[in-house]
Amino acid sequence: MIITLTCNPSLDKTIELDSELAPGTVQRARSTHVQAAGKGVNVTRALHTAQAATLALLPGNPNDPLLRELSTDSVPHRSLPIDAALRTNITLVGPHGITTKINEPGPVLGAETLSQLEQLIVSSILEFNASWLVLAGSLPPGVPSDYYAQLIASLRQQLKDRCPKIAVDTSGAPLRALFAFEPGHVPDLIKPNGHELAELAGSRITEAELEASPQLVAATSGALLERGTGAVLATLGASGAVLTTAEGSWVGTHAPVNVRSTVGAGDSSLAGYLLADTAGLEPAQKLRWAIAYGSAAAALPGSTIPTRDDLRVDAVTVTALEQLQGS
Ligand SMILES: Nc1ncnc2c1ncn2[C@@H]1O[C@H](COP(=O)(O)OP(=O)(O)OP(=O)(O)O)[C@@H](O)[C@H]1O
Ligand SMILES: [Mg+2]
Repeated sequence: MIITLTCNPSLDKTIELDSELAPGTVQRARSTHVQAAGKGVNVTRALHTAQAATLALLPGNPNDPLLRELSTDSVPHRSLPIDAALRTNITLVGPHGITTKINEPGPVLGAETLSQLEQLIVSSILEFNASWLVLAGSLPPGVPSDYYAQLIASLRQQLKDRCPKIAVDTSGAPLRALFAFEPGHVPDLIKPNGHELAELAGSRITEAELEASPQLVAATSGALLERGTGAVLATLGASGAVLTTAEGSWVGTHAPVNVRSTVGAGDSSLAGYLLADTAGLEPAQKLRWAIAYGSAAAALPGSTIPTRDDLRVDAVTVTALEQLQGS
């Protein structure tokens, strides 16, 4: 069982306008589409589509429109009731595809709510004997930026050998805070993109330099392994991905795809990695599955989650990095 936590889920509402956005006027919508989203929710959606056992944990009242959407879509989930509505993120799309996004901040989660959320996480891990816990996405207002780091240490202390492996996919201060304490606060796996890996490297290395050099990605990831993480799955958009573990580093690329929407591609990559990990595959194969899932997601419209039929695992080339260095 793979459990995901989404602290700040959103009901993503896409409104197609019949003319380009004109601020200060009244405009007509051609169509409206809503989907329950958030990084952990997306990972659970992808895992569930692949028929893997998964559960999304999130705050929200049972009658919240977001939770009703999750039920309609049969996404397995459990929620902690809170005294506020979840947020809606709005995407306005003009007839020529020009988009404007408006993201709400989300409800404030106080200390009491966070403590109840942790109890829900602990009870769900124990009930389902979870193998992975995925902490994903931004933190809502009121939540300290070291929340993920402190939660990891607290879960390990409480659950001891029943604590699952923990993966984190986030950015900015919550990502940097993972490495600000002792190794007990550091997750087993992180999934930064190029921008996020550059953030972790400090001001020394840029996103463009990382995307141009798998060796630099591996060296930067290796330094994070020394700081306590078990594996770094660095996704690099169209340049593929690099996986670094104690066993070595691998770079993978996908044959060119007709890109339609990269929204949620990283969430699909993480789901692909976890599916391969759960199946007991070798690191190179985990990277292959991560890239196959990410690229399949990029080739699908909107935030559509790939099914196994959308995957082209054979279109991924994986190379051990020592071989690259020697060439
Ligand atoms: N333009 C692209 N062409 C081909 N594949 C892509 C492209 N963009 C993303 N992918 C695939 O998706 C994976 C994840 O993409 P990316 O590195 O952009 O994740 P991300 O920035 O974390 O995305 P997210 O918006 O979900 O957070 C890549 O490793 C790659 O396999
Ligand atoms: Mg991402």
